[in-house]
Amino acid sequence: MWLLLPILVYSLIYLYVRHIYSYWRRKGFPSEATAFSLRYLRRFYHREFRHVQAICEAYHEGRDRLHGIYCFFRPVLLVRDPDLAGHILQQSNGHFGEGKWEYVKSYRRFNLLEKLSPMFSTRRLSPMFNNAQRVAQHMMQHLLDREQQGRVELDLQQLLRTYAVNMMGNLVYGLDVNNFEQTDHILNSYVQHPSQYGVLQSITLRGTPQNSTLSTRLLDLVKQNVELREQSGIMRKDMLQLMVKFRNGNDLSDGSDKWQIEHPFRTKDYKLMSIERLAKVAEDLLHSGLDSIASTITLTLYEIAQQPLIVEKLQTEIKELNFVDGQLTFEQLGQLKYMEMCLKETLRKYPPVPIIERICRKSYTLPGTKFSIGEGKTLMVPLLAIQRDGKYFGEPLKYKPLRFLHDKSQDIRQRRSAFVGFGIGGTQCAVQNFAKMVIKLALVKLLQNYHLELDASAVVEVSHLPAPFISSKDGLKVQLKARKILTQSNYLKGSKPI
Ligand code: HEM
Repeated sequence: MWLLLPILVYSLIYLYVRHIYSYWRRKGFPSEATAFSLRYLRRFYHREFRHVQAICEAYHEGRDRLHGIYCFFRPVLLVRDPDLAGHILQQSNGHFGEGKWEYVKSYRRFNLLEKLSPMFSTRRLSPMFNNAQRVAQHMMQHLLDREQQGRVELDLQQLLRTYAVNMMGNLVYGLDVNNFEQTDHILNSYVQHPSQYGVLQSITLRGTPQNSTLSTRLLDLVKQNVELREQSGIMRKDMLQLMVKFRNGNDLSDGSDKWQIEHPFRTKDYKLMSIERLAKVAEDLLHSGLDSIASTITLTLYEIAQQPLIVEKLQTEIKELNFVDGQLTFEQLGQLKYMEMCLKETLRKYPPVPIIERICRKSYTLPGTKFSIGEGKTLMVPLLAIQRDGKYFGEPLKYKPLRFLHDKSQDIRQRRSAFVGFGIGGTQCAVQNFAKMVIKLALVKLLQNYHLELDASAVVEVSHLPAPFISSKDGLKVQLKARKILTQSNYLKGSKPI
């Protein structure tokens, strides 16, 4: 009897697990082979806790456009084909609704991100550019202060994390903050990488890890700043101003260029968005933006430092811009075509969002196929694996910006649809204009003023832990050498670097 009990329990567990791991086969989907062995269980465990690399492996093992796999005890449908993924994410409105941005206020239900998206339009970003330039200037001043005989040795990733936090502090939180100097500012806590928060995060714990003490302190900061703008009429051209405008019922998509809050709601009950929600949006932007900005600039500089010809081309392109009073303008960023290709190539090789993940809310027939995905099941689009597939991009591990040179051939068109760095179908990054502005601005300033030399030991090991963050595991040690051309002109004369 006592012997029978463990056998019975073991058999039940075995049958249950086998039932889960046969889900895709039972539904008729192309899927991976499974077996109840230690090797397979280890693989599924890795999918859950080291999932970026493991999902890439699963992508390469598959042959069909759809590939059913398992992450621990979870059946996941991998969409291997970028066009099909685009159709699904474009057309499946409501079936994969994430709900994160859904917002209800006095019987009104809306998608908050959609309503706020005009904040990131070029029409709104252009007037914010002066503030952005000031943040870049703080970084250049910091480098100048650290310089010894024209050289600076530093961890570039750390520098750029501070730059990114400063940018978010200035443009999202509306604060004149410079974490290069104010090291005790609350935003400085975000300069360290989230892996240092000691957060255990798996794919099932989606969303970015947040530290509740920091969140509370950020909420206080937002509260003070919002009240100041609403009650004293203080106006600053930043995203906080636009969020406060929206909170007071001003439509951001009405085409007007006004920054002042018009006809503010007098009582807080009428406000379209509570201060708590506004602070949550700001914190989400901070979390989504910080790593993507810092890693993209770091990895671009890491790649180009190994190819002096690319650096030379970029420096020539920058030199050819006609600066107005020595200052870059927002519009000029659009003229940096070669830099745009470098940016795309970095995002192709190192996408900050390596996997798009959706939970199916309502059973959905996948377009152009005979298959349906059931409620509660997970769908994944492995952006990193697609963009590193030799089928779309020859020599995928080589850094070759010119692969994005305009060309009308079928081959290039196919490649373009496989470039999904900013997302795919209807789920593109709403904030991409802002991201490009901030990244290009830093690249212009650094390349204009410095030669970059990688430290002899500088090998970047990209880490995605905790997911979805991307970073170089041990930072990036470099030497920056002041460029001669500027040493002769405005650089040594004591004026600020441009
Ligand atoms: C190089 C920079 C960036 C890349 C490559 C990138 C990429 C992406 C991608 C692929 C998505 C779609 C994710 C999905 O469909 O699940 C996305 C969404 C989003 N991104 Fe970005 N992004 C970048 C920078 C930023 C920055 C700087 C911010 C904020 C300041 C930001 C905020 C967001 C937000 C709020 C979403 C909506 C997703 C959500 O629901 O959380 N991104 N981004």
